[in-house]
Amino acid sequence: MTSPYGLEGKVAIVTGGSRGIGRAVAEAFVRAGARVCLTARDPDAVRLAAEELGGVGLAGSVADPVRLRELTELALRAFGRIDVVVNNAATNQPYGPLMDADPDRWREAFAVNVEAPLRLVQCAWRAWMREHGGAVVNICTEGAGHVGPNVGAYGTSKAALLHLTRQLAGELAPKVRVNSVSPGLVRTDMARFVWEGGEDAIAAGLPLGRIGEPEDIARAVVWLASDAADWITGADLLVDGGTRVRTAYASGTSPGAYAVHDRLRSSSPRHM
Ligand SMILES: NC(=O)c1ccc[n+]([C@@H]2O[C@H](COP(=O)([O-])OP(=O)(O)OC[C@H]3O[C@@H](n4cnc5c(N)ncnc54)[C@H](OP(=O)(O)O)[C@@H]3O)[C@@H](O)[C@H]2O)c1
Repeated sequence: MTSPYGLEGKVAIVTGGSRGIGRAVAEAFVRAGARVCLTARDPDAVRLAAEELGGVGLAGSVADPVRLRELTELALRAFGRIDVVVNNAATNQPYGPLMDADPDRWREAFAVNVEAPLRLVQCAWRAWMREHGGAVVNICTEGAGHVGPNVGAYGTSKAALLHLTRQLAGELAPKVRVNSVSPGLVRTDMARFVWEGGEDAIAAGLPLGRIGEPEDIARAVVWLASDAADWITGADLLVDGGTRVRTAYASGTSPGAYAVHDRLRSSSPRHM
């Protein structure tokens, strides 16, 4: 039976595809019959992930526009098409109060989290999607819907990515659909400083009783990129275990307490 996803033989570019959510997304595409082209900064990790998934990879930062062009060219050279772009690579630096934020590092956050997604979509549009169509999925965050301690640069850039998603959805229709997925807290390296040592308290306050796994996000991304979602564009799919509706959760902790914010106040990410 043919899969309703319609992804057999399609090609997906996934940024940050070497680990965490990006890796799970790339694996899910391969399972759905697609081929993948990955990027991340660590060359060994990219090579290994590409090998394991039977895809191709290019090492480098998404903040470098040349890399993004090369990535597009690689996908076309290797597979002859680009059907899906997943903008997943991101930084949660600079971390801390905005009054202490170094403007250069703030700019870097926007280069990685906002500018790179736009540049990569421009490359894919010009090289393939304008003529043949396609789908883009941007990875935002549940946190972009509200403010939180120490995450001002991250939250502001992700809110911009959310807006960029909707703007592009209008501009690129009907050829290309552009949507986003907004994860809650997921068990990855980037969020390790939040969940490690605090998982039980966080899970107890979540309506669905656990933090997320990368595969929870990957299923949503693949679905949005697939034919099963072919009348959806400009949407943001919240995949957060009920984080945003937790204040109505009967068994939750008191409405004022939010374990994730407590963790953001008391710990900080290692620089990545
Ligand atoms: N985990 C969560 O709780 C959570 C919640 C909400 C949203 N998100 C979003 O989910 C996405 C994935 O995060 P994650 O938690 O899976 O992070 P992760 O486990 O730290 O993985 C990040 C991936 O992106 C790559 N990467 C980082 N900076 C890069 C850059 N400048 N250029 C190219 N690749 C880069 C990393 O490889 P290298 O280090 O080798 O470059 C790695 O492959 C991000 O957009 C994040 O904002 C995560």
